[in-house]
Amino acid sequence: MGFSAEWLSLREPADRAARDAALLARAAQVAGPEPVVLDLGCGTGSTLRTLGGHLPDTARWHLVDNDPALLERAATEAPGRATVHALDLRDLDALPLEGVTLVTASALLDLMPADWIGALADRLAAAGLPFYAALSYDGIMRWEPELPRDVDIAAAFNDHQRGDKGLGPALGPDAATMAARIFRDAGFDVQTGQSPWRIGPDQAPLHRALVEGIAEAASEKGLAVAGDWGRSRAAMAGDSRVLIGHHDMLALPPGTA
Ligand SMILES: C[S@@+](CC[C@H](N)C(=O)[O-])C[C@H]1O[C@@H](n2cnc3c(N)ncnc32)[C@H](O)[C@@H]1O
Repeated sequence: MGFSAEWLSLREPADRAARDAALLARAAQVAGPEPVVLDLGCGTGSTLRTLGGHLPDTARWHLVDNDPALLERAATEAPGRATVHALDLRDLDALPLEGVTLVTASALLDLMPADWIGALADRLAAAGLPFYAALSYDGIMRWEPELPRDVDIAAAFNDHQRGDKGLGPALGPDAATMAARIFRDAGFDVQTGQSPWRIGPDQAPLHRALVEGIAEAASEKGLAVAGDWGRSRAAMAGDSRVLIGHHDMLALPPGTA
């Protein structure tokens, strides 16, 4: 599962349905009456579309990604109110924090190593900025009906998620727990919520794409049965279900009203 616009648009309805509603509402509130939101790893603008509906129409956005094509698409979502920044997130000093009232990310923390999250927490603590990070994968996969190799596949996939995604070994399924701890240690008041995908028979295209990505990752980790498992699961997508665990986090700096 890369970051193609097609994959991101396929997953967006599941992401929107999954987000913890109370944390989303609280994030919108702490953005203040004249929100300026900095979205890290914005993709095509999923967070802009979802959080934007909870913000005043005047909200301004700074969109950060290292993929210019995705950035261009995201910017069309808030004409005249979005500034794009083609940046590599490894360079946290380059983040345009000036005037920002809320920093956001979605489906990003599980790609990142612990030291990057620590450096981000330090940077946002120094700037006194709240951070809303949605949809960090937590390693849980539950299929109905089950297949004999589901557990092995999940283990191989989770192992793959801990690989280097560009900034060093990623936290993968440990990202949500670790990020909460890191932000607490940096002095933030951290609230968390669960945001699992619940994919049913009516979402077969997402289900099939998900299965394909999981099988490919498990195969890359050397699990020989991954291909057969993927073909079986894809064939069952129209009459089976899967829960994929995610967590949301809202980290508030001291003194947030
Ligand atoms: C899984 S996608 C999530 C996109 C979007 N936030 C969403 O929820 O649909 C991760 C995004 O982070 C971006 N990204 C990953 N590593 C990055 C890096 N080192 N610097 C900048 N952007 C990065 C990718 O290009 C991609 O758009």
